[in-house]
Amino acid sequence: MINIIVYFTGMGLSIFWGTGFTKAEVSIHYPLVRPQQQKWSFSGPFGVYDRAQLQRGLKVYTEICATCHSLKFVAFHNLRALNYDEQEIKSFSNQFAIKDGPNEEGNIFTRPANPTDHFPAPFANDIQAAFANNGAIPSDLSLIARARAVPRPFPNCLTDILKNYTTAGADYIHALLTGYETTLSLEQKISAGKWYNPFFISGESIAMAPPLYDGRIVYDDGSPQTRDQYARDIAAFLTWTADPHMETRKKYGLRVIIFLTLYTGLIFFVKRRIWADYDKGHRS
Ligand code: HEC
Repeated sequence: MINIIVYFTGMGLSIFWGTGFTKAEVSIHYPLVRPQQQKWSFSGPFGVYDRAQLQRGLKVYTEICATCHSLKFVAFHNLRALNYDEQEIKSFSNQFAIKDGPNEEGNIFTRPANPTDHFPAPFANDIQAAFANNGAIPSDLSLIARARAVPRPFPNCLTDILKNYTTAGADYIHALLTGYETTLSLEQKISAGKWYNPFFISGESIAMAPPLYDGRIVYDDGSPQTRDQYARDIAAFLTWTADPHMETRKKYGLRVIIFLTLYTGLIFFVKRRIWADYDKGHRS
């Protein structure tokens, strides 16, 4: 018993010690500042995607992020889930050029993309991508919202399970894209071609120039044309690309919970019925 108490106290202290720092300087773990939890339409067990927001997020991706980041796991026909019809998807995909081939003469050729094609990558290979971006390779964004949904340190990781906190990836993307201005402490020296961003998970500086600013993209649905809104929309869109079946999963999850609750009740009464004679015999 004593052993168990000592073990858990030790573990608790070590977790607390490891994450208890508040000053950026003493932290050896990135990010230096953790993202704030934001409100999302898709958070919680009943949350669903806001289709208009996903459409705006697609616009942000196509007009800005697509210059550097690929989205290789998303095919154009997947955009049906964003309430686009066949014709809209066809004309949208036709704006992209795809390298195909070899043709009958053995040559690689370029053609407009079809709905069955995936989003084309902006660079031919990683070397070209790194060369154009100061040595850093812009990651594929298809699954980034999942990849960056890092569990928060103790004690939040425990309450997050109970609160069903599943939007850490979206919070991270939003914080990263809006977090460039956070003051640079004098001790930190950022090399040329890099930017200070305390939310970046792999270092104190990032090789991506701030991609968003107010008014950069024109929205036609009257939504605010601010950096904050762009960041929210692209974060929602990238959550969808990483987890396109979330709504179905939640729907089935709810049905399963309802079924199991009813089933438990049923089993309870069946048990009482089966053991009724035995219970009676024991009581008398
Ligand atoms: C001019 C090129 C460029 C543009 C435009 C750009 N990025 Fe990046 N991005 C980069 C590079 C380069 C990196 C890698 C940074 C590093 O490793 O230091 C990166 C990294 C990232 C990361 C990864 C951070 C991590 O945790 O690994 C995310 C997320 C991201 N970009 C999102 C976006 C989004 C969303 C947009 C569009 C609003 C965008 N980027 C536009 C070049 C770009």
